[in-house]
Amino acid sequence: MTHPHPINSGNAMKLGIMAFNCSGGSTVTTAPEAWPMTWADNVKLAKLADDAGFEALLPVGRWKGYGGPSNFNNSTFESFTWAAGIAAVTERIAVCATIHAPLAHPVMAAKQAATIDHISGGRFVLNVVCGWFREEFEMFAAEWRDHDRRYEYAAEWLALARKAWTETEPFDFNGEFFTGKAIWSEPKPLQGGGLQIMNAGSSPTGQRFSAENCDMNFVMLRQKDEASDRSQIAGLKTMAVNAGRKSQCWIHGYVVCRGTQAEADAYLHRYVEDFGDDEAVGNMLSIFGMESETLEPAVMDAFRFHFKAGHGGYPLVGTPAKIVDDVVRLRAMGVDGILLSWLDYLGEAQQWVDEVLPLMEAAGLRSPHSP
Ligand SMILES: Cc1cc2nc3c(=O)[nH]c(=O)nc-3n(C[C@H](O)[C@H](O)[C@H](O)COP(=O)(O)O)c2cc1C
Repeated sequence: MTHPHPINSGNAMKLGIMAFNCSGGSTVTTAPEAWPMTWADNVKLAKLADDAGFEALLPVGRWKGYGGPSNFNNSTFESFTWAAGIAAVTERIAVCATIHAPLAHPVMAAKQAATIDHISGGRFVLNVVCGWFREEFEMFAAEWRDHDRRYEYAAEWLALARKAWTETEPFDFNGEFFTGKAIWSEPKPLQGGGLQIMNAGSSPTGQRFSAENCDMNFVMLRQKDEASDRSQIAGLKTMAVNAGRKSQCWIHGYVVCRGTQAEADAYLHRYVEDFGDDEAVGNMLSIFGMESETLEPAVMDAFRFHFKAGHGGYPLVGTPAKIVDDVVRLRAMGVDGILLSWLDYLGEAQQWVDEVLPLMEAAGLRSPHSP
């Protein structure tokens, strides 16, 4: 078994890659180099990150696209089967799967997760999400609860899954949402005492759920000013500590790295402004704005750009040196890890490994890694 778990590596800034199980990845654009998403490319990218010593690979749980000319995220590999396959072809990196808690019974999901933990040798992470895309729930005729009620449901869902991972005798469960008799699940995950759990809730209720129940928490930095981003991170970590947990705070970052700042800016402008899919992003933002309680109207315009450029992530745009300066600043703000995405994942991830990673090591953000 991998010990310690990859997300607990000693690196001051951990790295992962996200959303490459989805067509378009994290970039809402019709640019010709947008990620077409094939299994062969998924394997190549996962191995590249594994060899480079990255900590995590995260698939997005998505069931339909957002329309528009790109029909962004229309084609997606289901995340548990994706994780099982990726676990089998990697050796060191954490492999995550994303579960929409209201769309799968926790006893079923607990066993699927334990199975992938065995396939991966103890490198699995479960990303528990509550959902915000109502049309996806309509596909399943699943109940669409009020925002905060979804998190109450997820807390009970996770409590039941955790019992299945740890109880050594059959147990009855009598909750508000779930009941079951003589529940039994073997094998237990290889990670003793349950599994590493991630959640990226960004509303106040979502952040509380994440801090109180999960190991990997996320913030969506509003980027209005550094002080408020810092206090968002500190608040999340304090909530976790008060709940008796040790929290890691991660963000999602989209990357455009070029030899000069002007080249990076021009490339970003091209795929966001010339080729950006305003219709798809408009659909996404109207759903996200209505159903999550994250983005206040004042930041919506800036976030329209960030959603086209990288699904609302934090911009890492410029030369390798400028990007590493940004990462140093993020570390100082309390960020523990970044899930990266690029327009052309394969080519640009390789560039990160060749040009950015050595500078991160020189800056003390990561230890040198030999494949
Ligand atoms: C890194 C990251 C990964 C996420 N993955 C998914 C996902 O796979 N599926 C999904 O429906 N939502 C996903 N979300 C959305 C969050 O789970 C959450 O619903 C959203 O940030 C809104 O916050 P709220 O639920 O607290 O309102 C993700 C968010 C982030 C930042």
